[in-house]
Amino acid sequence: MNTLIDDPLSPAELIQLDLGQRSYEIRVGEGLVHDAGRRLRPVLAQPRVIVITDKTVAPLYLAELQDSLKREGIDCDHLVLPAGEQTKSFDHLRDLADGLLDQSVERGTMLVALGGGVIGDITGFAAGILLRGLDYVQIPTTLLAQVDSSVGGKTGINTRRGKNLVGLFHQPRLVLADVQTLDTLDSRQLRAGYAEVVKYGLIDDPDFFAWLELNGAAVCGGDHAAQTHAVVTSCKAKAAIVAADEREAGQRALLNLGHTFGHALEAETGYGDALLHGEAVAIGMVMAFDLSVRLGLCPAGDLERLRRHLNGVGMPTRLPTVQGVNWSADALMDHMSRDKKVRDGRMTFVLARGIGQSFISRDVDAPTVHTFLSDAVSV
Ligand code: NAD
Ligand code: GLY
Repeated sequence: MNTLIDDPLSPAELIQLDLGQRSYEIRVGEGLVHDAGRRLRPVLAQPRVIVITDKTVAPLYLAELQDSLKREGIDCDHLVLPAGEQTKSFDHLRDLADGLLDQSVERGTMLVALGGGVIGDITGFAAGILLRGLDYVQIPTTLLAQVDSSVGGKTGINTRRGKNLVGLFHQPRLVLADVQTLDTLDSRQLRAGYAEVVKYGLIDDPDFFAWLELNGAAVCGGDHAAQTHAVVTSCKAKAAIVAADEREAGQRALLNLGHTFGHALEAETGYGDALLHGEAVAIGMVMAFDLSVRLGLCPAGDLERLRRHLNGVGMPTRLPTVQGVNWSADALMDHMSRDKKVRDGRMTFVLARGIGQSFISRDVDAPTVHTFLSDAVSV
């Protein structure tokens, strides 16, 4: 007998992140905000959610999400936070926690993070600590959040000592990555997220990197099919790494390719608009490949291929000129020595033997790094 499907859910790619009882689905496609109510229903303990979003995303997608939840008989309250990195702070966490408690949040209430990595990180953290642990769902609306921050359960806020220094691992119950939401994203933000896409090719997937060389312009130009393929491939790669090493005891650190340098650049430029996280990661990945070439580990041609690709899609690959910043090797070394990944005083780098052949190294000594940085700042 044929079964007629009334109003089928829009098709979406499925990636499963396997973590035993904490396993969850990542769905990627178009129209997922519209369908969110039906997709959320199976993971709700009670027919009530509280959506956390920001002032930029709320006017774009909150009403559509609320309508979708209402159609399924799900009660929906919401809280709107300011947009931007400054929101990942103790002050905003306190306001968020008070706001949720004012709305009589219960253990069975699902939090829904609708926004970029900032909203995802602070919502996940609030979910982890409120009432000793609430469930939450990620609906990422930036490319960076769709390919990286919404998956894997790292949550947290920044402190005056640095980024993401207060937080916990708390996995979401579901991730819905709707590539249609990328249509409204500023092109600079889209390209910044693209750096994290390139990262997966560089880590261990040279075929994906070659695909990006051909299709990166389409991904950054708003082609939904290309974006879906890029998000699915990235999420598959991240899901496999997180499933094998949830708490970053080993190979999850590969996801930090470009980040040891990148975080130092962000710290020096004040985590603001002058240099977005993804832009710092793009420059950081080039620096990691450059260092690998200088150490005789990686062919120079692969460094040039990476530079060409990033430049081709409009990404920076060298230290930018930033008002008020006088790049210095000492200052960058200082930031890098405070990195969360420093072990017994040794810095951790992700280096490469070529595109798709990255590995973790604690063998680069401080004088070598300093000489490398001195050259980088003098170019
Ligand atoms: P973001 O959340 O600040 O979003 C960037 C800007 O885009 C914001 O102004 C936001 O309001 C706006 N925006 C979001 N979606 C939009 C849309 N669809 N249309 C128009 N505007 C939209 O920044 P981000 O780049 O998404 O995330 C960066 C954060 O993610 C950083 O705090 C970083 O530390 C964190 N991060 C976390 C992880 C993790 O594993 N948890 C991984 C990588 C990065
Ligand atoms: N963004 C790095 C990680 O999730 O481990």
